[in-house]
Amino acid sequence: MPAAPIPIRTDLVIRTAPSEHANASPRAVTRHKHTRSSYSESSPILSMSRNNSLSFRPLKRSMPTPDKTIAVINASGRQAASLIRIATAVGYKVRAQLRNLEGVIATEVSTNPNVTVFVGELYIRKKPDDNRDVTANGHIPGIVVNEDLISQVFCGAQLAFINTTFYGNEVQVGEAIADVATRVKVQHFVYSSMPDHAAYNPEWPSLPLWSAKHRVEEYIRQIGLPATFVYTGIYNNNFTSLAYPLFCMDLQSDGSFVWQAPFHPDAKLPWLDAEHDVGPAILQLFKDGPSKWNGKRIALAYEHLTPLEACQAFEKGLGRRVKYHRGPIEVKCKIPEGYRDQLVALEKLFSPTNPDAEKQPPYFGDRVLEDSCPDSALALWEGPRGLEEYAGEIFPLEEEANGKTWMFDDEEYDEPAESEVPALDDEEPDSDESIDEGLVMRGLKRDEEQWLA
Ligand SMILES: NC(=O)c1ccc[n+]([C@@H]2O[C@H](COP(=O)([O-])OP(=O)(O)OC[C@H]3O[C@@H](n4cnc5c(N)ncnc54)[C@H](OP(=O)(O)O)[C@@H]3O)[C@@H](O)[C@H]2O)c1
Repeated sequence: MPAAPIPIRTDLVIRTAPSEHANASPRAVTRHKHTRSSYSESSPILSMSRNNSLSFRPLKRSMPTPDKTIAVINASGRQAASLIRIATAVGYKVRAQLRNLEGVIATEVSTNPNVTVFVGELYIRKKPDDNRDVTANGHIPGIVVNEDLISQVFCGAQLAFINTTFYGNEVQVGEAIADVATRVKVQHFVYSSMPDHAAYNPEWPSLPLWSAKHRVEEYIRQIGLPATFVYTGIYNNNFTSLAYPLFCMDLQSDGSFVWQAPFHPDAKLPWLDAEHDVGPAILQLFKDGPSKWNGKRIALAYEHLTPLEACQAFEKGLGRRVKYHRGPIEVKCKIPEGYRDQLVALEKLFSPTNPDAEKQPPYFGDRVLEDSCPDSALALWEGPRGLEEYAGEIFPLEEEANGKTWMFDDEEYDEPAESEVPALDDEEPDSDESIDEGLVMRGLKRDEEQWLA
């Protein structure tokens, strides 16, 4: 016979079972404050010491949220996006200027709940049909600063990370931003600067785009904003196999790469993974505040490598031969006016015919600043992504995003031996490479900014 069904009781109240220690004296009871502790009641650890963090952890820990807002411009740029990512992850609010909402980074920034986005250019063309190249260094008639947009970005901000670019009179834009920051009483203004080499040695030429930043830095100092100036090293991801000038990793028919640049093969250069490592360092500056950093210059570069060492790191990460070829900067595609001037001056400064590594001017202009690499950056952030890691993990992904397929080739390549130092490429680079006048500098990975070294 089947058993009679058990009637379901709806009046039962679920109670916790009485503790076996219910009547014991309080001294004998070992009870965790933290309910999810994995230590058993009889754990020798707990009976030995009651002062461990597990037993004293409160039931719920609140996530402390910084009560600060950071104003950021060019928020889709590598430096700014790096800061936005990390600062918002730990609770800072950001007010960010973007030119548009197109692209992966702009989407990432604009959908971040801790970011308020302001869309518009930092400069205004007085005539709506004006589509001139606005990258020339200095005054450009008919181009003015978008003061309203800048004021909106700074409204209610206590902190600012400002990385100006060469579009639309960089000095004017930078000075206008500093004025607005002063007006709203920003507590700590971090400016991404670069040197004017001529200010360190009159025999060195000024790099026009960098000297514009130097002028903005001078202005910020002059008006007394509580500010810190970071000098960023060469970005790891300037490298691309696209035919862009200066950091082209030129893919050869045997699967190896050649980098051609004017730098002396044995002179150290500062390197940085901007997307990975700008943000954490700037965040640390904000946390320390102007009492520690007001007026200071900081070299933001986590590796100090000669071109030969850089190629060695790249080769190790990539598992393919990478050669350095010292030579002039080759321009194989259309570039904006301002950038062409920059490259001409850069080749003069880092002459491809200077025989003495010691005589190569420091990348950051100031020898003391240069010699602080990489210690000063590592003191701010200890977990950078080096060139080797970049080459192994990120470069192939970025190349694939740019439509390249070399990383899928099955052919066996002559992998470099463990201890081999990449050789200088003494041969002439492939001369069959035609100059592609029609190539518009817009990779898929990112827009026109790849060559903004
Ligand atoms: N690359 C290096 O090794 C290196 C080293 C030291 C200093 N820097 C300096 O860093 C600055 C660039 O910063 P970043 O690397 O963070 O930026 P990035 O990743 O190169 O991005 C460029 C920024 O400029 C904007 N931009 C592009 N075309 C523009 C146009 N026609 N008008 C106005 N804005 C435009 C981009 O906006 P969209 O996304 O909307 O196009 C983006 O926000 C430059 O001044 C460069 O000199 C670079």
